[in-house]
Amino acid sequence: MTEPFYITTPIYYVNAKPHLGHAYTTIVADVARRFQTMRDCDTYFLTGTDEHGDKIVQAAKDSGMTPKAYVDHISALFQNLWPELNISNDAFIRTTNPSHMAVVEQILQKIYDNGDIYYSEYEGLYCFGCERFYTERELVDGKCPDHDKAPEVIKESNYFFRMSRYQDWLIEHINRNPGFIRPERYRNEVLSFLKEPLEDLCISRPKSRLQWGITLPFDPNYVTYVWFDALLNYVSALDYPDGDRFKKFWPRAQHIVAKDILKPHGIYWPTMLKAAGIPVYRHLNVHGYWNVDQTKMSKTIGNVVEPLALKTTYGLDAFRFFLMRDMVFGLDSSFSEDAFVQRINSDLANDLGNLFSRVLAMAHKYFDGQVPPIDPSVDKEMHLDLEAEAARAMTEFEQTMDRFEFHKGLIAVWAFIGCLNKCIDVSAPWELAKRPSSRKQLECVIYNLLEGLRVIAGLIYPVMPDTAREMQAHLGLDPDADFYRLDRIGAWKTLQPGSPLPKSKSLFPRVDVTSTTENKRKTAVSEKLTPPLRPLIGIDDFANVDLRVATVITAEAIPKAKKLLKLEVDMGERRTIVAGIATFYRPETLVGKQVIIVANLKPAKLMGIESQGMLLAAVDGDQCTISSVDKPARPGARIS
Ligand code: MSP
Repeated sequence: MTEPFYITTPIYYVNAKPHLGHAYTTIVADVARRFQTMRDCDTYFLTGTDEHGDKIVQAAKDSGMTPKAYVDHISALFQNLWPELNISNDAFIRTTNPSHMAVVEQILQKIYDNGDIYYSEYEGLYCFGCERFYTERELVDGKCPDHDKAPEVIKESNYFFRMSRYQDWLIEHINRNPGFIRPERYRNEVLSFLKEPLEDLCISRPKSRLQWGITLPFDPNYVTYVWFDALLNYVSALDYPDGDRFKKFWPRAQHIVAKDILKPHGIYWPTMLKAAGIPVYRHLNVHGYWNVDQTKMSKTIGNVVEPLALKTTYGLDAFRFFLMRDMVFGLDSSFSEDAFVQRINSDLANDLGNLFSRVLAMAHKYFDGQVPPIDPSVDKEMHLDLEAEAARAMTEFEQTMDRFEFHKGLIAVWAFIGCLNKCIDVSAPWELAKRPSSRKQLECVIYNLLEGLRVIAGLIYPVMPDTAREMQAHLGLDPDADFYRLDRIGAWKTLQPGSPLPKSKSLFPRVDVTSTTENKRKTAVSEKLTPPLRPLIGIDDFANVDLRVATVITAEAIPKAKKLLKLEVDMGERRTIVAGIATFYRPETLVGKQVIIVANLKPAKLMGIESQGMLLAAVDGDQCTISSVDKPARPGARIS
C-alpha cells in the first residue's frame, strides 16, 4: 500500500456559475485521484465553494438576494454539477459551514497569541476583483493583470499577518524541495517574487465595510480577509486538529490551482501553515488557463464555455478526454469545438473505437463470440510483442500520470493502441482465417488483441471511467471488479479462453463534421483557428506517404455535388482526382496550376467517380488554399 493521497481543488467563488475552467481543475483532481486508486492508494478528494467577501455580497445584491440565499443557490450549482461530470469528490466544503468557521477562529487565535498578527494602519492599492492589495511592481500599466482595472487606493486600520518573518524559511523550503511547486516555471515564478522583500499580509476588513465574513476572535469589529478564511478550508475539511482524517491525510496534500492563484497558494498558505505550527503541504500543482479563441473567457465577451452543454452534445468521456489530452498541464490552452471534434474523430472514433469494434467483430466471426484458446508455443513463435509493448505503455503511463503530465500518460496509451492497430494490419487475421492450417495463429492474434484491449480499458479508467467499464463489460469481465488496479492490468494473459464476449456497440461514433456548425450553436462556443498538433510520428511513417507534384490538365464541376470538382492531372502518368474545393475555386482557374497530391492513397469512389489521389490544401475555418510549389517542377517529382 502506497502512502495516503489527499487531493484538493481551489474552493470556487460563488459569484458566477461553474464554467469550463472550474470543470477542468476538478476533472484533473478526479483523474489524479482515480489514478492513485489504481496504485491501491488510500485517497481523499476535496472541493468546495468560497462564500465570503465583498464580491459575493455584490453578486447577491445584483441578483436581489440575501448573501445567504445567494450562496446557497450558487454553491448548489457547483455541487450538482460534479456528479454530472463523474467527479468523485469525497467532501464538498463551504466556507459558511460552522465547523470551518470554528477552525478559522482557532487558527487565527493561535497565530495571534504567537505574536504573528498585529494591528496597524495601512494605505495600499486594492483590487476588488482579486480581493487583495497589490504592489506597484505587480501591476501591468498600472492595472491589475487579471482584471485589467486600476486598483483603488484604500487607507484603513487593519490586522496584519507577519508574513515577512517566514520569507527566508520559505525560500529555503522551496530550494530544498524541488517538487514543492510544480511545474518548474511556477516554482521559479514564486522564487523570483521572493527575491524582493515580502510585505506583511492584511488579513482583516472592518465590519463597517464588510460584514459577510468570519469575525476575528480577538476583535469583534473585524472580519477575516478572504484568503485567510479560504485557504484554511484545506485543513478544516479534515477536522483539524484532532480528526482522524487530518492525522491520516495531512500533510500529504496535493493542491491543484491555476496560475491565477499561485501567489496565495505558493506564498501566503505555506507561511500561514508555518506560523500555525502545521506542517506544509506536499505539492502545489499549477496549471495554465483555458482561453477561447486565444481570448480570456469572460461573461462580457460572451465566450464562456458551459461544461454541461459539451457533455450533452459530445458525451462526457469525450469531454474529459479532450481536456486531459489537449492541455499540457502548466501551459495555457485555447479551447475550440473544431479541435474537440477532431480529437473525437481521430483518437476516439478512429484509433480506439475502430480497434475495439474490429477486434470484437473478429472474435465473433471466427470464434463464435468467445475468447479463443492460445497455444504458448505458437504465441512464442509469432513474436507479436504486445505484452512488452503493454508493459512499456504502463511504465510510461504510471510515471507521467504521477507527475501530473496527463497528456503524456494518454500519449503512451495511444501509442499502445497504435501497436494493436498495426498488429492487425501486419498479421491480417482475415488471411489467416482463410487457411485451416493457420487456425492456431489466428487464435493467438485474436487472444493477444483482446488482452491488449483489456489493458487499455484499465489504463483509460481515470480519464474515461464510463468507457473503461463498458469496454470491460464487452470483454466479458465484471466492470465492478477492481479491473483498474495497475497490478491486475499488468498481469498479461488473464482472459479465460472460452469465456463469452457480449456483442459490442460502437464506443465513440464519429462526429459528422458538417454538423459541428449546428453543434456550435448549441454549445455557444466560438470557433478557434489553430488546430492542435497531431501526435509525433517517425520519419518511417512519413516516408510511407508518397507526395508528388502534378499539373492540372482539366477541371470541371460534378453535377449535384456542390463541393466537389473533378480534376485530370499529369503526375508523370494521368490521374483523376476528386477534390472538395468547389466552394473555393472556379474550375477554369485551376487549369495549368501545379498542385501537390498524395499519390499512394487507396482509390475511393466519390459521386460515382474514382478518385486516384488526394490534393493537399491549407484548410482554416471557411478558408481553403491549395498547396503548390514555388517554381515550376517536373510533373511526378517527389516531394520529400
Ligand atoms: N476562491 C478562490 C480560491 C480559493 S482556494 C483556497 C478563487 N476562486 S475562483 O472561482 O476564481 O476559482 C479560480 C480557479 O478556477 C482557478 O485557479 C482554476 O482552478 C479555475 N479556473 C477558473 N478559470 C479558469 C480558466 N479559464 N482556465 C483554467 N482554470 C480556471 O480563486
